[in-house]
Parts: sequence; structure tokens; C-alpha cells
Amino acid sequence: MTPVVARTRNELATERARLSGTVAVVMTMGALHAGHAELVRRARERADAVIVTIFLNPLQFGPGEDLAKYPRMLDQDLEVCAKEGVDLVFAPGPDVVYPLGDPAVRVSAGRLGDRLEGASRPGHFDGVLTVVAKLLHLTRPDLAYFGQKDAQQLLIIRKMVADLDFPVEVVAVPTVREPDGLAMSSRNIYLTPFDREVALTLSRALHAGEAAAPEGATAVRRAARDVLVREPLVLVDYLVLVHPDTLDDVPDWYRGEALLALAARVGTTRLIDNLPLVLGQGA
Ligand code: PAJ
Repeated sequence: MTPVVARTRNELATERARLSGTVAVVMTMGALHAGHAELVRRARERADAVIVTIFLNPLQFGPGEDLAKYPRMLDQDLEVCAKEGVDLVFAPGPDVVYPLGDPAVRVSAGRLGDRLEGASRPGHFDGVLTVVAKLLHLTRPDLAYFGQKDAQQLLIIRKMVADLDFPVEVVAVPTVREPDGLAMSSRNIYLTPFDREVALTLSRALHAGEAAAPEGATAVRRAARDVLVREPLVLVDYLVLVHPDTLDDVPDWYRGEALLALAARVGTTRLIDNLPLVLGQGA
């Protein structure tokens, strides 16, 4: 069944009032793929009604980033939502979300927002948190689903919800991958068939690191780096092995949960990927 589509705040308020029971939200920037669909499926398992937001948030793009060329395909996105049984789609324009232009007051991600993705994309996470806060207020969900694919985003949203007492439960969904390992991303559309082959190096490097996890942090870093250096067409922005709560590099002796994360440019496309690992188990 085709979902109801709300374009304005009034339409959203009217349609939201019709939903009862446990309500979940899945926030997206559109160009929906199997990763987004998985978030909706997980949401439907627990919720009586699922809202999907489709909003290409200009606030989280820096100058020179891909806002202008980011894929826009609302009709196809609505088909995906219909197929996945979404109850309500909120697809506003920037003038609806930011009626007074760029907001003077924003949510700050603090120290966590300056690391990894934030180091390469200054202000990115403040832009993400500001829109996520607004969309939570507008959709008033009980549950909000986010992907592990964007591990730093997920962590920072969790912190915002805890630190600022948002009345919502954040639920994480593991990364959905293509059969060959490439993490699903709206930006994969940019990859030429050649680039796409090269891009497989990212998930290969992560899996090589994962295989070395019983031996500890140094072995993981070395194994992942060895895969990346053998492919000169992957321009690595960062490759880190960090604590999943602080994003600080884990020391060599560390045992327990860690996050192996990387960002790299392949051709003109910047890609990110990560794998949660347990270090030192069974060593
Ligand atoms: P977008 O990149 O469209 O992603 C929307 C949601 O889908 C995020 O929670 C993201 O982590 C999740 N997702 C993307 N690819 C995935 C994959 N392969 N497997 C599992 N989940 C995946 O992230 C954003 O939009 C924006 O920053 C947003 C949160 C909507 C704020 O503007």
C-alpha cells in the first residue's frame, strides 16, 4: 500500500496524530537502498507504525561536498517505502525544515564531533544532530533506528539522546552489505564499475583486521593497513582502531570491544566503512 506522504509541518502533524501504539522513525536523505529497507524492517518488528523521513539536509554538507550532485529520486524512494509497508513518509523541503534559513542555534556534538569524520568534515555532526533533534521533535517517535554503517553518527546521536534527555529509544542496525562485501551506500551510485572493484578493498581490509582480532590491536591495524597499501587507487583518509564509546585509539594491550573504521576516496567518491570487533578473545 502506498504510504501517506506529508510535505509540510501541518500535514505531518495531522498524519502523525492518526498513528497509534508504538511509533518508530527511520531518518534518511533518500536514494533508498537495501540498508535503509533493513532499518524499516527492523522498525516494523517492534513498532505499530513506521515513519520514514526523506530530507537532504544541507546543514550537514560542507562547502565543496556533494550536496548538489547527491542523488534525488523521490518517486523510487516512495516505491521502496510502499514495498516495505511504511505508514507515513515525511519528505519536506529545506524551507519547511529551516523556515528562517540556517538556524542560529545548533546542537553541538562536542569533542566526539571533531574526530574521524568530523576532522575531515568540520561542522558535519552539528548539522546532523540539529536535523535529527528537529525531526525527533516533529515526528515524536518512541523508537528511532540508525545504521551501524555510520558508527560515529550513531554514537553521537546516542549521546545527544542521553545527554539532552530526548524521550526516545535509539536502536542500532548492523551494516547491510552487497554479496561481495561492499557496504550499501547511496554514494555507491557514483562509482564506475572499475571504481566499484577498487572499493571492495575497504571491506577486505576490515575483514583482514577482524581475522587478526584474537592477536590484539597491533595485529589488527597491521593486517588492515597491509590490504590498503596494496591498492594505490584507494586514497585513505583515516584507518583507526578505537574504543567504541570514546573513539580514542585503543592501546596495544587493550582487550574487549573496539571499532575498526576507515574513510577513503576511490576515484571522486568518498566512502566510509567500519566493523565492530572484540580484541584478544581466544588469544
Ligand atoms: P543516510 O545516509 O540516508 O542514512 C540513513 C540511515 O540509514 C542512517 O541511520 C544510516 O546509518 C543507515 N544506513 C545507510 N547505509 C546503511 C547500510 N549499508 N546498512 C545499515 N544502515 C545503513 O545518515 C543519514 O542519512 C543522515 O545523516 C541522517 C541521519 C538522515 C540525518 O540527516
